[in-house]
Amino acid sequence: MSSIDATTREALAAPTLTRMTDIVMPEQLNHRGTMFGGVALSMMDRAAFVAATRHSRQTVVTVGVNDVDYVAPVGLGEIVEIVAEIISTGRTSMKIRVTMVAEVLVTGERRLCGTGSFTFVAIGPNDRPVAVPQVTADPSAG
Ligand SMILES: CC(C)(COP(=O)(O)OP(=O)(O)OC[C@H]1O[C@@H](n2cnc3c(N)ncnc32)[C@H](O)[C@@H]1OP(=O)(O)O)[C@@H](O)C(=O)NCCC(=O)NCCS
Repeated sequence: MSSIDATTREALAAPTLTRMTDIVMPEQLNHRGTMFGGVALSMMDRAAFVAATRHSRQTVVTVGVNDVDYVAPVGLGEIVEIVAEIISTGRTSMKIRVTMVAEVLVTGERRLCGTGSFTFVAIGPNDRPVAVPQVTADPSAG
């Protein structure tokens, strides 16, 4: 079997954070020419979904969206990156912290544009909640 290079090895490694990166296109804008909040919310929900699925390896559904703050606009043609991280678990629920960052294409300058907290529940074949692996400590806690 041929050996794999370092990039491929890193691509195959289990990620600790979920990152979703995209470029803001015209159809994602609001009437002011910046990214529409509903589009940003959808991207955050998707990233949180992936993080919750990776943690539980179960079917998961969104049950709660809390404390979504848009602190700066994301512009047309900018790179937008969503970072999702599991921060706590209940018996069947998982809380995911999501951070949205914009990056200017030509300078690489990055700025915080949004944050949010999403709760997912793992469900079994009968559509009822099932237990998830526990997270012991909240990494955001001092
Ligand atoms: C997921 C679902 C099956 C859970 O059913 P339920 O009767 O609420 O189940 P339970 O009361 O046993 O709660 C299950 C867990 O969800 C948590 N939960 C339920 N609603 C919640 C909410 N709004 N926010 C945070 N956690 C919530 C409970 O605290 C519990 O957590 P724990 O097991 O970690 O202690 C049901 O709420 C559902 O189908 N919701 C719709 C999901 C969906 O369609 N999402 C897509 C959005 S369009």
